[in-house]
Amino acid sequence: MINVAIFASGTGTNFSALIAKINASDLPIKVISLICDHPEAQVVQRAHEAKIPVWTHTLKEFNDKHDYETAIETYLAQFKVDLLILAGYMKIVSPVLLSAFSGQIINIHPAMLPKFPGRHGIEDAFAAGVTSTGVTVHYVDTGVDTGPIIAQQVVEVLPTDDIDSLATRIHRVEHQLYFDSLCKVIEQKHLS
Ligand code: GAR
Repeated sequence: MINVAIFASGTGTNFSALIAKINASDLPIKVISLICDHPEAQVVQRAHEAKIPVWTHTLKEFNDKHDYETAIETYLAQFKVDLLILAGYMKIVSPVLLSAFSGQIINIHPAMLPKFPGRHGIEDAFAAGVTSTGVTVHYVDTGVDTGPIIAQQVVEVLPTDDIDSLATRIHRVEHQLYFDSLCKVIEQKHLS
C-alpha cells in the first residue's frame, strides 16, 4: 500500500478531487490523514465526510514552526508514509519536514512556475495581464514554489475572463493534473 498524507489549509476542492480519483482508481493508495493548520477550514469537514483521519492544529498552539512540524512528524511516524501531498497548504514547509520526508513532498500551484509564485498565483497572473497562465505540480524544496517541476499545464486567459471565471478553469485543470502527477510520481519512484 502507498500511504499518503494530504496537507491543506482551506476549501479543499483539490483534497476532494484527489480522494474521488484515488477511490475510483485501482491504485493501492491510502490517504492516511489530512493535516490542516486551520481547524475551522472547510477541508476538515470534507475529510470527516470522507472518513479520513484529521490532524488539525494551529501554529499558535506551538512555540514555533519547528515545534509545530515536529508534532506533525511525530503524528505521522505511526504510519509508514510514502508521500506528503500539499493541496492548498498555505504554510512554508520548514527543514523539519523537509529533512524527514526528503524528496517525498509535492505541491500544486495555480500558475506556470517560475512565474507568479506565492499565495496569489491566479490574482497575480490576472493583474499582470498575461494571455496565458496555468498550473504547476512540483517537488517542495526550501524555497517558495521553487522545487523541481513534475508537470505543468497551460490555461488560456480569455478576454472575457474575470478572476472567478479564470480561477474556475484553473481549479478544473488542477483537479485532473494533480492526480495524473501523483500517478507519475508513484511510477517514477517505483512505489506501486
Ligand atoms: C489551489 O488553487 C492551489 O493551487 C493553491 O491553493 C488553492 C487551494 O484550493 N495553492 C497555492 O496557491 C500554493 N501556493 P482548494 O482548497 O480548493 O484545493
